[in-house]
Amino acid sequence: MQTFVPKNIKMNRPKVYDVPHKALRNALSQLSLLAGKTNYSDQQEVKQFYKLGEDVFKMLTIHANDENEVTLAELEERCPGSSQNDLDDHVQIHLAQDKLEKLLSKIYNNSKSGMDTTEDGAEFYLAFSEFHGEYLEHSAAEERVTQPLLWKYFTDEELAAHRGKIMAKIPPRSLLTWFRFIVPAQSSNERIGLLTGLKAMAPPTFFNEAMEVIKQVLTEKEFDLLNQSLS
Ligand SMILES: [Fe+2]
Repeated sequence: MQTFVPKNIKMNRPKVYDVPHKALRNALSQLSLLAGKTNYSDQQEVKQFYKLGEDVFKMLTIHANDENEVTLAELEERCPGSSQNDLDDHVQIHLAQDKLEKLLSKIYNNSKSGMDTTEDGAEFYLAFSEFHGEYLEHSAAEERVTQPLLWKYFTDEELAAHRGKIMAKIPPRSLLTWFRFIVPAQSSNERIGLLTGLKAMAPPTFFNEAMEVIKQVLTEKEFDLLNQSLS
């Protein structure tokens, strides 16, 4: 674990991990809850659990690749050696995630074949809790240690360019999945800011589709406030 934190960092700089990490913490918590409450002898419940797991693991993979290929790659060029800790963490996370994904698929396939998957479900729940704990520590370390390094070595404009590169890589379908987890995890001001930006940049059909997805994951009061602020 890195311990070096640069001094003299100006505040109010862009927090590059804020949006994806809020989404991932929300997604991981949802999967943890569902893994615990699923009735593993009920095919429909297992299917619902499997679908959430698939979405969560896809987002984790996309996020790790974004960090490796954009954020950490750029940081490594400016400050050689500084990305190694996060890259190593990502390798460990990938190995643990791979085991969980295999177990998730086994549970789903066995359930589809009519088997009771209670024992494997209990193992997933426990192994996922261990993974969840490690992931939370890793993402907090990125915000406490790597974020100040990014502020030290890049201007706000350069950090915005990194974000642009990451956004350009995400296919629109994946973006809708991300919105399901990002938007309810944000404060009302943050989500108004995010959706104002989307409305200005995205084709109206995509924006409307995004709002339909978002409507399903906000309370009525939250959605009405967002809608009013955007009109
Ligand atoms: Fe990471």
